[in-house]
Amino acid sequence: MLEAVTGTGAQTLLADGVLRLCLAGERHVELPLMWLRDRCTCSTCQHASGQRLLDPATINIQSLPTDIHVDNDTLRLTWMPESHISTYAINELFAAPVSPPTARGWDASAASDLPSCHHDTIIGHDPAARSELLQWLRATEQMGCGVMHGVPVADGEVARVATLFGHVRETNYGRWFDVRSVVDPTNLANTSFGLAAHTDNPYRDPVPTLQLLHCLESSASGGENVLVDGWRVADEVRSQQPDGFDLLVRRSVSFCYRDANTDLAAIAPLIELDTEGAVRSIRFNARSMQPPSMPSTELSTWYDAYLLFARLLTEPRFQIRLRLDPGDLFIVDNQRVLHGRTAYAATSGSRHLQGCYADIDGLRSTIRVLSRMESSSATELR
Ligand code: FE2
Repeated sequence: MLEAVTGTGAQTLLADGVLRLCLAGERHVELPLMWLRDRCTCSTCQHASGQRLLDPATINIQSLPTDIHVDNDTLRLTWMPESHISTYAINELFAAPVSPPTARGWDASAASDLPSCHHDTIIGHDPAARSELLQWLRATEQMGCGVMHGVPVADGEVARVATLFGHVRETNYGRWFDVRSVVDPTNLANTSFGLAAHTDNPYRDPVPTLQLLHCLESSASGGENVLVDGWRVADEVRSQQPDGFDLLVRRSVSFCYRDANTDLAAIAPLIELDTEGAVRSIRFNARSMQPPSMPSTELSTWYDAYLLFARLLTEPRFQIRLRLDPGDLFIVDNQRVLHGRTAYAATSGSRHLQGCYADIDGLRSTIRVLSRMESSSATELR
């Protein structure tokens, strides 16, 4: 039953645990009372830092708002029986607290759009360098990959580049690691074999969400790098084999890595979806995947979809190919963009890359901080 209609500038109706606000332009919104109580921004409920002080376990679910007032852009109400006063800026009630990442799916035709920057133009704290870095990070986040040229050819530079926008994820391979052909390798990355497009370290939980690879030497013939948008390919599998796709999402498999001092294992599906059903994470690495185990009625369907995924990854229509020269570095979103390489000649010339891992939340944080700095300096100039 509707109870209260008060205020100026807008009508409010209270019914069935919901406050209905009738705003200008015939617009109306319905706000559940407990959502409103939880979002109170008074100094008892929210710290000046923006962090919440109100413990949701202490909210009285019987509380009801009285004295509901709308004045221009402000909603004010008093919760009874506590006599707790809440004031809200109406526009802020509807602002999205965090914008979701904006992924842009791609295939081979996007090769010329691969985000690219030069190391020297993004180094430093002057506004031009910050703006270049911000543009490159935004584009890299959207495509899930990017290239940087002119990185100094020196040991460990790859990890220093990662600190320009985040934090290195140190692993059993170290803060950074070498990728080159060695005698008796424990990892096939350290051979001259070609490597099919894959995501790295699916045997970790959680996986590193960014990988950087920096070229120090590339005089060997071959060893071209391949990038594939795994989310795009997963959607292709979904449209061609929906039942198999469903099993790739619902059935977990094991991934392992072992050497003398390490025994890593993770159990996870090849494809994970977000709450809207969109692909949000891929683990695909035939080198470390263990034989899948599931009811035999499902195993054939699972395999059909798995093999389709593997074949699609090899199709040129989905691949961006790049040849890394010394000083070139690429970065990939390791839950989205698969990377691989063609075989190279181990007997003539040499190929030496260094890699490191980092996490995409740090990259996104840097994008937000640089965006804030950019908009505050634009405001100062006004
Ligand atoms: Fe790799």
